[in-house]
Amino acid sequence: DWVMRDHIAEAVEQIRQQVGDEEVILGLSGGVDSSVAAALIHRAIGDQLTCVFVDHGLLRLNEGDMVMDMFVGKLHAKVIRVDASDLFLGKLAGVSEPEAKRKIIGGLFVDVFKAEAAKLKAGNAGHKGATFLAQGTIYPDVIESGGAKSKKAVTIKSHHNVGGLPEQLGLKLLEPLRDLFKDEVRELGVALGLPPEMVYRHPFPGPGLGVRILGEVKKEYADLLRRADAIFIEELRNFTDEATGKTWYDLTSQAFTVFLPVKSVGVMGDGRTYDYVVALRAVQTSDFMTADWAELPYALLKKVSGRIINEVRGINRVTYDVSSKPPATIEWE
Ligand code: XMP
Repeated sequence: DWVMRDHIAEAVEQIRQQVGDEEVILGLSGGVDSSVAAALIHRAIGDQLTCVFVDHGLLRLNEGDMVMDMFVGKLHAKVIRVDASDLFLGKLAGVSEPEAKRKIIGGLFVDVFKAEAAKLKAGNAGHKGATFLAQGTIYPDVIESGGAKSKKAVTIKSHHNVGGLPEQLGLKLLEPLRDLFKDEVRELGVALGLPPEMVYRHPFPGPGLGVRILGEVKKEYADLLRRADAIFIEELRNFTDEATGKTWYDLTSQAFTVFLPVKSVGVMGDGRTYDYVVALRAVQTSDFMTADWAELPYALLKKVSGRIINEVRGINRVTYDVSSKPPATIEWE
C-alpha cells in the first residue's frame, strides 16, 4: 500500500544518508526483527551490508538453510553463515541447569559474533572495513531498556542481552526499526518481499532448542526434537478452524515441542520399545506475561501424536501440556 511504500522510500533514503559509502554488519538470527532490518538495509545499500548468521546447532529443522535460501538465494544479500554447533554443544556438555545453559549459549553467541565482526571490521584485500553495526531493535525494546524492565526485582529467565556490543566493537549503531511496533515491522517485512510465513512466525527464544531439551543438551536429543517439532508445526498449519477460517498455527501465539529425557515403555508390532517422551506445548496470549494453554482439537492432537510416534524412531510417547501461565511458564525451562 501507499503508506508503506512511502515509509520504505523514506527509511531507505535515511539509511543511505547515514551510511554513505561505509560498510555495515548485521547479526541475522532468522527472527522477525533482524530479518526485516536486514531486508530493509539491503534494499538501501545492497552489498555494503554483510550479515552474520551464527548457527548454534539449536535451531529448528532446516532453519539455517531456509534463512540462507531467503537472504542469499532470493534477496542476493551477503551472508556469512557460521556453523558453531560443535562449539556450543561441546560447552553445553554436562550442564543441565536452565540459567547456566542460557548463560553459556548467550555468552558464546556474543563471542562468535564478535569474532566475525572483528574480521569484517578489519577488512581485507580490496575491502575496507565495516564501521556500522546494524541491529533490529524495535520500539518496545527501546522502552524496555529505558528502565521498565530493570526495575523488576526477580529475573525469572534471563534473556539474551547484546547491549553494549557496538561500543565493545568500536562500531557505530544503525537501528532502522527503532520507531516501529511489532505489527509495523511485520507489515514492513511483507512489503519488502519477505514471505508472510517468516514474518508472522511464532516467537523463538534466543537459546533455541537449548531450553526445550530439559536438562543436559545432546545432539541426539536435538535431532529427535527437531523432527518431532516440525511435524507439530506442519499439522498446526494444516488444520483450519471452521468457525474462524484460520489455521491453528495462526490461532495460537506460540507452539512447540519439548524433549523430555526420560524413557517410557511402548509396544510396536510384536516388540517392546523403551524410548523418549515429548510434550506438545501450545498457548494463546496477548502479552506473553500470562497465557492459556490452547484447546487444540483432538483430531489435530491425534494426527500429531500418531505421526511423531510412527515417523520419529526413538520417541514412543507424546503428551500435551495443559498448564497455564502463571503458575507454569510458557517454556519448560
Ligand atoms: P516464559 O517461558 O518465561 O516465556 O513464559 C515468555 C516468552 O519469552 C520467551 N523466552 C525467551 N526468549 N530468550 C529469549 O529470547 C530466552 O532465554 C527466553 N526464555 C523465554 C518464550 O519463548 C516466550 O515467548
